Amino acid sequence: MRLFFALWPDDAVRAELARWSRELHALCGGRITPPEKLHVTLAFLGGVEDARVAEIELAAGEVAAPVTSLVLDRPGYWKHNRIAWAGASLVPPELAALVSGLRGALAKSRIGFDAKPFVSHVTLLRDAREPRAIPELAPIEWRLDAFALVQSVSLPKGSRYEVRRSWEASSRRPA
Ligand code: 2AM
Repeated sequence: MRLFFALWPDDAVRAELARWSRELHALCGGRITPPEKLHVTLAFLGGVEDARVAEIELAAGEVAAPVTSLVLDRPGYWKHNRIAWAGASLVPPELAALVSGLRGALAKSRIGFDAKPFVSHVTLLRDAREPRAIPELAPIEWRLDAFALVQSVSLPKGSRYEVRRSWEASSRRPA
């Protein structure tokens, strides 16, 4: 099965991201990410044998994830893959620590993942044209209180993302 770890928005954040998608779509065209698929990828595992899922979940359970918040304040565009995205000018250290903790736990359990460095972003449009200017959009504040293991299920027309399991962040400091 195809798996990835992600930050999964609540409905309010999802609605704000969908609004950004529509505003950017008016400038860049392309294919809008369906709102129910919007997320930030933390680690992309790709194809995984069913028998390894328990190990993956155990590894995720070891990761310390303090509650923090992410302010998406920066729409952007990548020419090389024609993606328009929502990003953060500041990645909170707690989020950077979550990503390295998670990737470290996966590596320790010999679970493979795409080693490309983490770039905090939400893909909003694919096959988009480069905008003449990046618009100013109202910042989105996202309280990060959990992270999720998501399965990408292939369908005749594309794919659907299903949250298999999520882990709550802790509001306490580690002892
Ligand atoms: P994205 O994070 O830029 O949107 C599920 O396929 C998600 O994992 C997508 O959101 C995708 O891109 C991200 N992803 C990260 N690395 C990937 C890879 N090597 N192959 C496919 N998707 C990848």
